[in-house]
This record gives sequence, C-alpha cells and structure tokens, in this order.
Amino acid sequence: MVNYVPYYSITLHMSAGDSVIQIGVGMNSRIDKIRKSEKQSHTKIYNEEDLYNTDSWLKKPIKTVQDIMPLLSDHECFRALDLGCGIGRNSIYIAEQLGNKGGLVDCVDILDIAIEKLRENACIHGVEEIINGTVSTIEQFSIPKSTYDFILAVSALEHVESEKAFLDKLQEINAGIKSHGIVCLVINSEVKECNKDTGEDIEPQFEVNLPTTMIQSYLDNAFGGWSTIKKTVSSQEYDIPRGSVISHLTTNVITFVGQAP
Ligand SMILES: C[S@@+](CC[C@H](N)C(=O)[O-])C[C@H]1O[C@@H](n2cnc3c(N)ncnc32)[C@H](O)[C@@H]1O
Repeated sequence: MVNYVPYYSITLHMSAGDSVIQIGVGMNSRIDKIRKSEKQSHTKIYNEEDLYNTDSWLKKPIKTVQDIMPLLSDHECFRALDLGCGIGRNSIYIAEQLGNKGGLVDCVDILDIAIEKLRENACIHGVEEIINGTVSTIEQFSIPKSTYDFILAVSALEHVESEKAFLDKLQEINAGIKSHGIVCLVINSEVKECNKDTGEDIEPQFEVNLPTTMIQSYLDNAFGGWSTIKKTVSSQEYDIPRGSVISHLTTNVITFVGQAP
C-alpha cells in the first residue's frame, strides 16, 4: 500500500467553462513526479497522433461507450461529462451521436494541450457547439448536482491525488447524475511496472493504485441501489515508455457501468 506524504493545498472549485487556477503550498513530490511523467508522455502522443486516424489507443472510442449511447437516445436536453477527456476520443463520438438533437458535452482535463486538441477535433468533426472544454484537475472540478445524463471517466479516476479524493469524486459523480442517467468508469487497479530490459521494479505511475477488490467494494458502496449494466475486470499488460526506459505494465482494468434509479 502506498504512503502519501502530507501536504497543504488550497482547492478552488471549478465549473464548466472556467479556467484553471492552482495554488499549492508545498508539493507532494510523488504526485508531482507522476504528473510530470504523465504530462510528458501524453503531450507527446497528443502532438503526434491524429484522433481516429492512428494505430494508437486514439484510433476509436471505447466499445463500452459505443454500447451505452443507444441506451440514452430518449434523453432530452442531453448533457454529458467526460472526466480526464484527453483529446476527445470518447467525447467527440458522444457529441457526434447527438446529431441534430444538440446537447452539451463538458470535458475536463488537467493538460492544456489536451483541451486545445479537443477543441480542434471538435471543429474538425463539426461538433464545436456541443463540446465544452475545461482545463482543470478532476479533483478541482466541482460536479453540479443532478445535471448529467452520462458521466464517464476512462483511465482517469486513478489519477486523482489521493484515495480520499477518489472516494469524494465517486460521491460527487453519484450526486451529479440525473434520474436514469448512466455512469461509465474504467479504472486501472493493482498496477505493477518493471523495466522491460532488466526486470527491475518501477514505481507505478498512477497516483491512486488500489487493490482490485477494494475499488470494487468502493464502487458497490457508491452506486448501491443502481442497476448494473456492466461490471468486469480484465487483466492487461503492455509496454509503455517512461523517460529513457520501457516499462512493462500489468493491470486489472475494472469497468463499471451503472444506471441511476
Ligand atoms: C489515459 S488518458 C485517457 C484519456 C481519455 N479518457 C480517453 O479515454 O481517451 C488519461 C487522461 O487523463 C488526464 N488526467 C490525468 N490526471 C488527471 C487529473 N488529476 N485531472 C484531470 N485530468 C487528468 C490526462 O491528462 C489524460 O489526458
């Protein structure tokens, strides 16, 4: 289990469309290091790959999101929230599916470059009126209550700054969904990383790296009384560049899709 170094920060709550303001007094060096490394790797891929026109993970929206959209087709004044949206792999698809019906997809990412590319992609795909990008951490973005038909966080919630922030965000997501709205969470758990060449352990570059069963019980508690649409765990492994070394990463990816009463 990871020990978190205590630090002090001032949290300013953000709403859709605001610009980010971060004030930190003292930095948690572990979080700082992970965010620097993540910024480096994401900036590279977001600059080098074109959305839906690449062999990378940006090739297409995830299948789970494609499967969910028809379930929401009768929702009027549709509003979605994509936490840790990247350059819009899922949110541009969601916006496209809304077609003439319109609606709004609020998109949040910690990186300026992600939101910049998201806006460019929205224009390319003709959905700039529907996509609303905000640069913010997930932690600082305050989710308005009973507002969203669909909230998704794909490989993003494990990047909040602490286990407490993770639990708080689950509660906020629950409270942010409208009646019969859907939540889709894809979360890495029990991540292990090692140097591909030497086999030496590398500290996993995930701010919150919890046991699979613990996340499952947190999800059960947060969304008790909801209808479960999908609940799976898939063991995955892949290589990922970490500075000058290639890391071999293994993870249990948890997918939870639930519908509010
Ligand atoms: C693996 S990518 C996934 C992007 C997108 N969800 C997708 O499926 O294509 C994770 C994204 O989360 C963003 N991210 C990481 N930590 C974050 C945080 N604390 N708050 C907001 N965004 C964060 C990263 O900048 C990155 O764009």
